[in-house]
Amino acid sequence: METICRTKIIDVLKREDFGATVCVKGWVRTHRNSKAVHFIALNDGSTIRNVQIVADAQKFDDDLMKQVTTGACLSVTGELVKSPGAGQSVEVQAHDIVLLGACASDYPMQKKGQSMEYMRTHAHMRLRTNTFGAVFRIRHHMAMAIHRYFHEHGFFYFHTPIITASDCEGAGQMFQVTTKNLYDLKKDAEGKIDYSDDFFGKTTSLTVSGQLEGELGATALGAIYTFGPTFRAENSNTPRHLAEFWMIEPEVAFNDIHDNMDLAEDFIKYCVRWALEHCQDDLAFLNKMIDPTLLDRLQFVVENDFVRLSYTEGIKILEDAVKEGHKFEFPIYWGADLASEHERFLVEQHFKRPVILTDYPKEIKAFYMKMNDDGKTVRAMDVLFPQIGEIIGGSEREENYDKLMSRIEELHIPMKDMWWYLDTRRFGTCPHSGFGLGFERLILFVTGMQNIRDVIPFPRTPKNADF
Ligand code: 4AD
Ligand code: MG
Repeated sequence: METICRTKIIDVLKREDFGATVCVKGWVRTHRNSKAVHFIALNDGSTIRNVQIVADAQKFDDDLMKQVTTGACLSVTGELVKSPGAGQSVEVQAHDIVLLGACASDYPMQKKGQSMEYMRTHAHMRLRTNTFGAVFRIRHHMAMAIHRYFHEHGFFYFHTPIITASDCEGAGQMFQVTTKNLYDLKKDAEGKIDYSDDFFGKTTSLTVSGQLEGELGATALGAIYTFGPTFRAENSNTPRHLAEFWMIEPEVAFNDIHDNMDLAEDFIKYCVRWALEHCQDDLAFLNKMIDPTLLDRLQFVVENDFVRLSYTEGIKILEDAVKEGHKFEFPIYWGADLASEHERFLVEQHFKRPVILTDYPKEIKAFYMKMNDDGKTVRAMDVLFPQIGEIIGGSEREENYDKLMSRIEELHIPMKDMWWYLDTRRFGTCPHSGFGLGFERLILFVTGMQNIRDVIPFPRTPKNADF
């Protein structure tokens, strides 16, 4: 028999050359049959849509058809026919069915409507479901949108190291990297571990941010962005935190904080617009099954300006809300770090649109942010989103060597590891700004999913590194 090349289901569903012989391969979603005919819904991941396979019961062996169960993998060759059924344009009248892989009866994705918690404990198989297929196709499209945006705007994709000796955010939440034998650690007289004989000859960790090296790139190439994995050993078991997440960090020479805000707003709107244009089927599914306000929310973000206001003004609004009887779990006062409940109050209840909050107290922000003339606040900017809270964090950078040095000394940041960063301020320093977008938080927003563990294929969180 002539071998027919496989066609992806996304392509088969668009075809109109009825009568042609096609070959599709994929996994069985459902199989139902009457005495005379079998209907098999086949999905190959290329689209959320299934193709319907129609198989004449007389033509196919009973033993074979018994093995066509949910989860089994098939190769089907047959005739492309116009579908009489509603909601689908074509179906395949099977001539030949090959069972590529039978599916054991304990297939964990058999039942519909399993909880997200159950899905997480079967993360290796949840990819085969409609919901997770949609989420991870959208995740792919968002990565493409990000690269396209920066490429079209003259940014260079810049690769910063994953293993590093500096703590960019200074928050001390780093995973150490070592090849030392932990059962036989030599310590000096003060009880400190000697790392001089470790692989890198010093203490090293997984990066929490590519920003510091990104600044070196921006002050040479003009505008760069990073897009890579970042690691934080923060013990926060929340629906918004991962120990391993992906971050996008643009950094631009000569941009001040206002340019930085313009860039953040334009960039994020581009990504959301991209999703609306390129992920219609998957978004329609999620809007129906996960969150009926999703499409409206995405449209709203694309069409409306973000509100921009200072931290000080934001605190005033929150304090007024408390006076009027609103209850927050955490206390709110000038100087407090905003909790997610505060951010979401501003966005969801007060302004009812995305908010960019600027000029935070220096004490709650990182050392590299540019000091304002008041000596109390820094040129920080956080972009706050409905349902998410902080989606972007960034700032104008302190470009003045002396001011940066005095911050570093104030905070007792070990200087010997920072010499290369300080050199940017000694050799032709310039104003520059940048920010970090948490990729999974963007995916949360764009998919309407509720938990960050459900928008990365294999989440890493405290006490969980399965798969
Ligand atoms: O606000 P962050 O800590 O900023 C930085 O790391 C800067 N160096 C960025 C820069 O200016 N280049 O993190 C940036 C974003 C946050 O707004 C959030 O979206 C995300 O990264 N993020 C996390 N996402 C998931 N899990 C975590 N544990 C995250 N921590 C931060
Ligand atoms: Mg932040």
